[in-house]
Amino acid sequence: MHKCVTVVIGTKWGDEGKGKIASAEAKDAKLVIRATGGNNAGHTVVYNGKKLALHLVPGGIVYPQTTCIIGPGTVVDPLVLLDEIATLESYGITDIKSRLKISGRAHVIFPYHKHLDELHERLKEKPVGTTKRGIGTCYADKDNRIGIRMYDLLLPQEKLEKKIAEATKLHYEAFRAHDMEKNIMDVSTLAKAYHTCGEDFKPFICDVDPIIANAIEYNQKIVVEGAQAFRLDIDHGDYPMVTSSNPVTAGTLCGAGLPPQAVKEVIGVCKAYDSRVGNGPFPTEQESSLYMGMENANSPISPLVGDIIRELGHEYGTTTCRPRRCGWMDAVILRSAKYTCGIDYLCINHLDTLGEIGLKVGKVMVCTDYIYQGRVIGLFPDDIELTGEIPYPCYHIISGGWKIDKSCKTYNELPVKAKEFIRIVEKASGIPVKYIGIGPSNEDLIIRNNV
Ligand code: GDP
Ligand code: IMO
Ligand code: MG
Repeated sequence: MHKCVTVVIGTKWGDEGKGKIASAEAKDAKLVIRATGGNNAGHTVVYNGKKLALHLVPGGIVYPQTTCIIGPGTVVDPLVLLDEIATLESYGITDIKSRLKISGRAHVIFPYHKHLDELHERLKEKPVGTTKRGIGTCYADKDNRIGIRMYDLLLPQEKLEKKIAEATKLHYEAFRAHDMEKNIMDVSTLAKAYHTCGEDFKPFICDVDPIIANAIEYNQKIVVEGAQAFRLDIDHGDYPMVTSSNPVTAGTLCGAGLPPQAVKEVIGVCKAYDSRVGNGPFPTEQESSLYMGMENANSPISPLVGDIIRELGHEYGTTTCRPRRCGWMDAVILRSAKYTCGIDYLCINHLDTLGEIGLKVGKVMVCTDYIYQGRVIGLFPDDIELTGEIPYPCYHIISGGWKIDKSCKTYNELPVKAKEFIRIVEKASGIPVKYIGIGPSNEDLIIRNNV
C-alpha cells in the first residue's frame, strides 16, 4: 500500500497552529481531511494576507487542486457550515461546491445538542468549560444510536421527523425537568428546517470512501488536519476535562477512514509556549489575572507572566474568543505524545512570540521533567484525578529572549538562544523539530529537511 498520508495533530490542548501547518502541507496535496470534532475547532489560515478562521472546512481549501473532506468521524452543525462556505465564497474561493465533500456518515448537531451541552455544564460541580457547541451531546447521541447523520437530511421530510422525534424524547424530558421549556422546539418545524438545509447540502454529501481509496491507489498526497489535541483526547487526555472524540493519530485515522499502513509521517504541532482554554490540569501554567476577574490584564505596573504570554501571543480563542490560560513549554507532554500519537516530527509555532516573551520576562523556560508523588517522572501521569496532585515542573531556563527577522529562512539564521531552545525541546521530547513557525502565514515557516 502506498504511504501517502501526512497526519497533522495537536500535541497539547489545542490551538497549536495546526490549521497553518495543515494548509502549508496541503500545497501539493490531493486530499485534505478533517476527521474528528466539529466547530469546537477554530483553525486559522492566512489567505491573501488576511486571517481566515475555519471551524469545519479544512484549511487546504485555499489551494485550488485540493479536494477537502469532512470525514465520517466528525460532527457537523449544518448552519455553521453554510455560513463558513458563504464566508469562503466572499473571500473569492468560489469552486467550493466541486471541492468540498461531506461524509454522509458524519453526525448532525441540532440546536437541542447545544442546549443539552449547556445543561450538562450547568449541572456539573466542576464544569469542563466546553465550547457549548453541542459536540459532546451529539457524540453521545451517536453512541446511543439515536444520532442523525448528514445522509438523513436527504431523507423524505416525514422520515427525518420520525428520527428527530425519537432522538429528542429523553432530551425534551430533561429540558422540562430543568426549567428549559423554551428550548423545546417543535419536531416537525425542526424536520422542515433541516430537510430544507439538506437541499443546500445535496452537492456536498457523499460516500467519501471511494475518493480516499482512489487517492491511496494512485499514491496522491493526503493530509489529515487534526482538530483538538492529545491532552483533550477522551481516552488518552485529562478525563473528564477533555473533548468527546479521539484526536490522537489513531483516532484521526479512524475518523477519516484511513488505514494505518498508508501513513507516511505524523507531524505533532505545538507552540513554543503552551495554552489551554477550558478547565483541567496545566502543570506549566503561569499566574495570570484570569483568576482575578481580568481587571489587571493590562496593568503596566507588574504584569503577570501568564498575562504577558497571552497578550504577546494574542491568545484568545478562535472559536469562543475566551482568553486562554498560558504557560511555559511542557516537553514532558511532547515525550508522552511521541509514543501515544507516534509523532515523527515536531512543528513548533510562535518561536517569534517566545523570543518577545523572553525579552519582556527576562527568561524563557522549558519543562523537561515533573516531580510527582515525590518522584521525578518523564511521562504525563494518568491518575491526577485520583491523587489530586498537579505534576510539579522541573525547568531548564534560558536567560533573556530574542527577535526573529521575518527574512530569516533557515535554521542557521535563527538567533543563538532560539536555537538553544529548539535543541532543549528536541532533547527533552526525543522528537526532531522539522518545522519552525516564526509568524502566522504559511510562508513564515522554516523547514529543516536534514533532521
Ligand atoms: P489551531 O486550532 O491549532 O489551528 O490554532 P489556532 O488557529 O486556534 O491558533 C493559532 C494562532 O497562532 C492563530 O492566531 C495563528 O494565526 C497564530 N500562529 C500560528 N503560527 C504562528 C507563528 O509561528 N507565529 C505567530 N506569531 N503566530 C502564529
Ligand atoms: P482546535 O482544533 C482548544 C476544549 C474546550 C474544553 C474541552 C471540551 O482549534 O485546537 P468541547 O466543546 O469539545 O466539548 O469542549 O475541549 N476544546 C478546544 N480547546 N482548541 C480546540 O480546537 C478545542 N476543541 C475543544 O475548550 O476545554
Ligand atoms: Mg484553534
